[in-house]
Amino acid sequence: MRRFSEEFLLGAATAAHQVEGNNTLSDTWAQEQMPHGSYSEPSGDAVDHYHRYKEDILLLKEAGLNAYRFSIEWARIEPEEGEFSEEETEHYRSVIRFCRDHGIEPIVTLHHFSSPVWLIRKGGWEADTTPDDFARYAAYIAEQFGDDLNYVCTINEANMGIQISTVARQIFQQMVAVGKVQVGVNMEDLMRGSPELARENLEAFGTDRPAVFVSARTTHGDEIVMKAHAAARESLRKAAPHIKVGWTLSLHDVQCVPGGEEKAQAEWAEEFTHYLPVMADDDFLGVQNYSRTIIGPDGPLPNPEGAELTQMEYEYYPQGLENVLRRVAKDFHGDLIVTENGIATSDDKRRIAFLDRATQGVKSCIEEGLPVKGYCYWSLLDNYEWQKGYGMTFGLIGVNRATQVRTAKPSLYALGRLLRDD
Ligand code: BGC
Repeated sequence: MRRFSEEFLLGAATAAHQVEGNNTLSDTWAQEQMPHGSYSEPSGDAVDHYHRYKEDILLLKEAGLNAYRFSIEWARIEPEEGEFSEEETEHYRSVIRFCRDHGIEPIVTLHHFSSPVWLIRKGGWEADTTPDDFARYAAYIAEQFGDDLNYVCTINEANMGIQISTVARQIFQQMVAVGKVQVGVNMEDLMRGSPELARENLEAFGTDRPAVFVSARTTHGDEIVMKAHAAARESLRKAAPHIKVGWTLSLHDVQCVPGGEEKAQAEWAEEFTHYLPVMADDDFLGVQNYSRTIIGPDGPLPNPEGAELTQMEYEYYPQGLENVLRRVAKDFHGDLIVTENGIATSDDKRRIAFLDRATQGVKSCIEEGLPVKGYCYWSLLDNYEWQKGYGMTFGLIGVNRATQVRTAKPSLYALGRLLRDD
């Protein structure tokens, strides 16, 4: 049954490193190979989306969806500083054109966690040179593909590094932190570190403490991320003024019990409010929500007794999305696009129930007049959940990694039906 109008962008999302395979020039790839690192397994061929993107986009289209959010891999496009790869440019041109030719709106992300090794060697996401480097890459993308793009997310989950710092602090303070970061990070391993890992990092990046995107960030690093976003926005607008530009944030539905008000306010300020000035010029905000977090007088509380947990160990809480949409709309006045929302589960019926409840929430927000322009489920495919590897199954499409054969799950069609009249 139709739940959204034809102009509404209804689709699914992926990120290059998690699906393409063999992203060998990126920092994530380098870290996955480290014997003492925190990655549970390497990404390898991933789900070979690099070669099978047509099949995947066709499945999305046939289910009735009209948008595909994916990322362009900076390390492929600019394998060495200032050197752009024609071959990889043509690859992404084909992906974008394929979407266009099939009536699918491409929503492109320029940076989704992984970065080129050369960037990390220069100091990565703590270096003053990074905003300019990112702006140069953004300008190249706008010049190459601008005519075919209407929506660009500069940086995925710009607040991830700050969230990791917060959770790290909480672990140090012996607080309950399992399942409190909305991404597949093995927090305890990440923090434990080891002299061997320091050596492996030194070899790969010329520093034993590489400032990769998914690592604890300083306040200076947070400013670098904001500057990089603003600089990329400027590049994009200069080369292709029609493109709607935004970034995405990882946003928990932050709730509190009596006594937790102050801490909850601080958490929300760190996660969202302090970014408002840099976002003021954006056309849209990409909202990414997976669950809620309940704050008590001493910080985050454990999941409620008896709560259903997802494979990621956070609470099944699809109603969190509408709470977050309403909350951000009070302060951010551009459009809102849900760029990620989803559940890791082996039970597709729970996925259908999750997306049904979450999209009902989106519909209520639209009816109340909120400018929510799209919803992309995470993820189109079962894929590589970063440090947690292939065990987490978020996908609308399952993949047998031995054969790379795809099997659409009923949830793919359940989502597509939300744009159909019958
Ligand atoms: C990220 C994705 C990730 C998903 C599920 C988001 O934090 O953008 O890359 O796979 O959450 O954890």
